[in-house]
Amino acid sequence: MCGIVGYVGENEAVPILLRALKRLEYRGYDSAGLAVVGNELSCFKDKGMIDNLQGSLPPIKGKVGLGHTRWATHGKPSKENAHPFLDCEEKIAVIHNGIIENHMELRKQLIDEGHTFTSETDTEVLAHLIEKHYNGNLEKAVLKSLKLICGSYAIACVHGDEKDNIIAARNESPLVVGIGNSENFIASDVAALLDYTNKVAYVMDNEVVRLTKEEFSITTIDGEPVSREVEQVNWTVEDAEKGGYEHYMLKEIFEQPIAVHNSLLGRIPDLTLNGFLDGRFNTIKIIACGTSYHAGLIGKYIFENFSKVPVVVEMGSEYRYSEPTYENTLIVLITQSGETADTVAAAREAKRRGSMTIAITNVVGSSITREVDYTFYTRAGPEIGVAATKTFTTQLIALYILGIALGLIKGTLKYDRIRELTSTLRKLPRYMQSVLDDSENIEKCAMTMTDATDVFYIGRNINYPTALEGALKFKEISYIHAEGYPAGELKHGPLALLTPQTPVVAIAPRDHTYEKMLGNISEVSARGSPVIAIGFQDDTELSKLADQVIFIPEVPALFSPVPITVVVQLLAYYVARERKCSIDRPRHLAKSVTVE
Ligand code: M6R
Repeated sequence: MCGIVGYVGENEAVPILLRALKRLEYRGYDSAGLAVVGNELSCFKDKGMIDNLQGSLPPIKGKVGLGHTRWATHGKPSKENAHPFLDCEEKIAVIHNGIIENHMELRKQLIDEGHTFTSETDTEVLAHLIEKHYNGNLEKAVLKSLKLICGSYAIACVHGDEKDNIIAARNESPLVVGIGNSENFIASDVAALLDYTNKVAYVMDNEVVRLTKEEFSITTIDGEPVSREVEQVNWTVEDAEKGGYEHYMLKEIFEQPIAVHNSLLGRIPDLTLNGFLDGRFNTIKIIACGTSYHAGLIGKYIFENFSKVPVVVEMGSEYRYSEPTYENTLIVLITQSGETADTVAAAREAKRRGSMTIAITNVVGSSITREVDYTFYTRAGPEIGVAATKTFTTQLIALYILGIALGLIKGTLKYDRIRELTSTLRKLPRYMQSVLDDSENIEKCAMTMTDATDVFYIGRNINYPTALEGALKFKEISYIHAEGYPAGELKHGPLALLTPQTPVVAIAPRDHTYEKMLGNISEVSARGSPVIAIGFQDDTELSKLADQVIFIPEVPALFSPVPITVVVQLLAYYVARERKCSIDRPRHLAKSVTVE
């Protein structure tokens, strides 16, 4: 996720672009840049946040310009990889939020045709593609270029010889036009525009916008004119940053289908991780903390199922003090921030022990990436809520992809099965969306848990860790004690705690543990505890046993933690909101835990 902004009007562009970019900083902050059309095209960019850019900016004059704040997905955070990108002649400047899936082949083709690249990013191909197709009309060149790219994008571009317009386009990444008096704007979201206007027009997928100071016009990617109503928004800047949601956490929960979609883009054809993996290991150890540790526990089921290699999962804080053993172990470290001290220290220790190491992280260039042999980036975008939500589900996606790669290398997955698995992976955003569409029902169920002092989450097999994650999310933001348990373990102690005041969330998809789960639900009900069950659509059996049921779409069991996680996140959220807790910043917790 990055932030983009464009201005065309009667005022100097630079101060307006900088102010708008500051409003978008929550979307990314590893580097930033500007391009302004004055007498000629000027471009300036730097590593770091907007203040850094502002502090080092030379005087630039011009009344048309673009600005970008970056959250890296391709290429480390650096001045070279910051946007805007220029063509070879330095006449065209492009900014982009999204992922160009086929950038490698386009880059190769453009280099063969004589174009010179200056960065490692996917975006730069667009600047050169537009250059290739430019024949005196930027809009036409953009339309031709967009036909050649696959992926998600909100882009904006300017040409040094076209001093009165900006061309922008959208596919699967947000883009909004702001309408002022003799000035117009383009931005990733309304938050960037509210200092200047509250009149906006939303750009839809596969649409291209031409913006001058007097007007804006929209066409489809095929050049067909589109009419779009101008709307008035009455949000505060804070509302707008949260996209109209009450909390960042809720916004981030609802962003999960797109975050998962982005994390899959371009990954499925590259199941061997660029040839990095070989089959020399005979065990796998996954190391992580907190929510990432729960992702690791789910990863164990995935890896063992796909590759038949035995997996152990350890907490970062425990691994580094454990006794070194002599197996040939592949170490997989999971950390959304890439900065968790215990996990980073574990990576260092694993290297010292001579293991091959892979990190799964959401932050390009974070500390862990400097310690490991290979990094797999999730593409959740910045997560502001302390409670991990979209970073967790995208970690699961990374684990499915890595698991398939392991299965390929070990020869345990045949091509038909891989096709089946990747086809399910592609459907996951849709399944998650259908859970989100049921949020009213989930909220109703949550309202029955708000006065509890203890809550249990139970599940079996791959959904035992989902139960742990449900309980962690619940206690973290609602301050109610919650525990996750393997359902079969209840009878070995915790049953003694169950009363009519102890709600139990039972995760019971119709898999090979289903019958046993029904038995556990009956045990719980017999102790008078209210049961909120999560199961597959139209499961009448479950409806008979549980007090309330939340249905999810039927999905192969191994993938069920993904939609079920959305349910448990929402349950935690609604309870915490009802209890007026500090949801985005729970007491005593931090987003990035850099102490051991
Ligand atoms: O950045 P990491 O994934 O390494 O963070 C690990 C934990 O601190 C983190 O998952 C924590 O448990 C979350 N606040 C849970 O929502």
